[in-house]
Amino acid sequence: MRASVYIETLGCQMNVADSERAATRLRAAGYDLTDRAETADVVLFNTCSVRARAAQKVFTRIIEVRRAHTGGRQPLLGLMGCVAQLEGASLFDKEPALGLVAGTRATDRLPALIESALGGEARTLDLGERAEGDAWDVSLTERHSPFVAFVPIIEGCNKFCSYCIVPFSRGRERSRSAEEIVREVQGLRAEGYREVQLIGQNVNSYRPKTEDGLKDFRGATPFSRLLRAVAATGLERIKFTTSFPRDFHTDIVAALDEHENLCDWVHLPVQSGSNRVLKAMRRGYKVADYLKRVEAIRNARRRLALTSDVIVGFPGETAEEFEETLSLVEQCQYDGLYIFKYSERQGTPAAALADDVSVEEKKTRFLALERQQRANQTRIYENYVGREVKVLVEGESAKSEQDMTGHSTCQKVVNFPCDADLRGRVVNVRITQAKTNSLYGEMTGEAAHVS
Ligand code: 5AD
Ligand code: SF4
Repeated sequence: MRASVYIETLGCQMNVADSERAATRLRAAGYDLTDRAETADVVLFNTCSVRARAAQKVFTRIIEVRRAHTGGRQPLLGLMGCVAQLEGASLFDKEPALGLVAGTRATDRLPALIESALGGEARTLDLGERAEGDAWDVSLTERHSPFVAFVPIIEGCNKFCSYCIVPFSRGRERSRSAEEIVREVQGLRAEGYREVQLIGQNVNSYRPKTEDGLKDFRGATPFSRLLRAVAATGLERIKFTTSFPRDFHTDIVAALDEHENLCDWVHLPVQSGSNRVLKAMRRGYKVADYLKRVEAIRNARRRLALTSDVIVGFPGETAEEFEETLSLVEQCQYDGLYIFKYSERQGTPAAALADDVSVEEKKTRFLALERQQRANQTRIYENYVGREVKVLVEGESAKSEQDMTGHSTCQKVVNFPCDADLRGRVVNVRITQAKTNSLYGEMTGEAAHVS
């Protein structure tokens, strides 16, 4: 009988994309993929280590899954992703039930690794690099959604922000060829996908080895040329994340101005509003540089939604420096903000600094920033009332049986009454109510295709 594999993804979209890729390789090698951990022969967790709490989560899940397992014998337990890459062999001692640890670049070798683990090898470990010939293809059956696809364009990160573990867990930047990316997007379009999200830790650093696929597309940076190349496929909605402020060239805004199918949303994490803290974070820009990028975004032809990330309680952050963050956030008027309490990650340069903002103070700052953001966001969301947005109907709303839910081009959650048959279609919705983190409205008709 074929062994069944259950994969659970924790963490970011890159992990989602990697799990899709792992599932593709495993099915091709003859494994069954299952969504039932209780009866699976192999249970894999794709882990996240960006903050301590995320990294801890997998150990709780291992206990839960082992308890719930109903098969005769316990499954082969494996960790993949960032925790696996960072902690390596020591995980076998920390969690004796583990049989397999596969790092962030071992995805394509998983079938062989599982085979040796199932064959009796006690501790199967692979922390190696991707091989030259590793393929990025993902089969449609393994995609997390039938309408929205994640398309990695660059892996890894060379920025080494002082607090961040990602350059260690995901290694150096590697860009995928534009030709391959465009071919994948064309394929997705032919299969009826309505939205692609081009993903990478830092998409603006996109720098492929060759010009293949970019020759016909002008632009000031390889990334803005790629945006134009992907827009030319005619796929209906194209989003991208995450943008790094220093490398965010105004030509990206120009590309968005030229192509309606490049969506009206930019995620541009600022992290702090204090120049001293930004320097200690090694972000490579000052507040004024960041604000210039924001101005370019605000001067776009369409209104572009702007979202950001902020870390509160970075080592040495004073009350005044935190106030500077509050005022920057006030000035930027973000459509959405992810706030994080600083979490010390071993091995990063910031871990050498005293984590001297107390837990209580971090919480106080978190809540203060959240309160301010909520007030601004409410106003921004209320501005949508009476306007129409284009929404991809993704599924049923969790709150009401009559309502469906989806995202707008500007990446807002929109709920509205509509027939479930419209799943996968793009519709116009007139907004009637603003909630804290979502909009509510009524459908006015199907939207014309843009490209
Ligand atoms: N502590 C807190 N937040 C962090 N982030 C990354 N590393 C840390 C850390 N050590 C946040 C940043 C980043 C987001 C994905 O996670 O804000 O943009
Ligand atoms: Fe981490 Fe900075 Fe790279 Fe983002 S850009 S992944 S915060 S090191």
